[in-house]
Amino acid sequence: MGVGDLEIWLNHFEHHSRHPRYVPRSLSDVLRSDERKLIASSIATFQLGEQSEGRTLLLAAERFAREKQVPHLLRTIELLIREEQRHAALLRAFMQDHRIPPKSTDWTDRVFRLVRRLAGLQLYVGVLISAELIGNVYYRALESATGCERLQVLCRTIVSDELAHVGFESQLLFMLRADRGARLSALTHLAHRIFFATTAAVVWLTHRSVLRRAGHSSRSFLRACQAQYNFYLEPTGALASPQEIAGR
Ligand SMILES: [Fe+2]
Ligand SMILES: [Fe+2]
Repeated sequence: MGVGDLEIWLNHFEHHSRHPRYVPRSLSDVLRSDERKLIASSIATFQLGEQSEGRTLLLAAERFAREKQVPHLLRTIELLIREEQRHAALLRAFMQDHRIPPKSTDWTDRVFRLVRRLAGLQLYVGVLISAELIGNVYYRALESATGCERLQVLCRTIVSDELAHVGFESQLLFMLRADRGARLSALTHLAHRIFFATTAAVVWLTHRSVLRRAGHSSRSFLRACQAQYNFYLEPTGALASPQEIAGR
């Protein structure tokens, strides 16, 4: 990813912050009681995951951008975090209207936050993109598990934004990993794959009622997650180093 790519991403996120996607009020908003029971805990966990002030991410991005003199990065990440907060707000509004109680804590969310705090930008982005790739499979499943038009459009809205997030984050991750030697690079990829596969398995176990209603088996869900991983994170082509990004 070069300076030009970063500028394109910044423009993308700036545009979206000025013209955020919204869920039209005219949509039918009926959630049957059996659907509500099925999705309540699951959607509350994902709502919690979307909700973050992103302080750790911003600090790590700020440090990296300053050290390597990478332009546009900090502002792009600020806008990305704002978009996540908007997802959290849209989900919360839906939950409130359907009397689905929010969660203030969940063990999976605590694990994610803990791992993200452990190290710098690279680990944070690796964890974040894993959650989002799996989240995209989940939101598509939630969309087909419900007959509620508002929830269907809400899921599609989130996935549309997330597709850009994972595009940006995968490019960022390749840039952050570009300086590594072959052996360390192979180890990093292996560790990420293991983390990703474990997370997908945990998401299957903890959200399987919703996923099953959408027609998934454990196998099809894990395969769909893996396909997302392969598409975005299997390295192809030449990688730019931070020095190249800074034009040096
Ligand atoms: Fe999100
Ligand atoms: Fe996202």
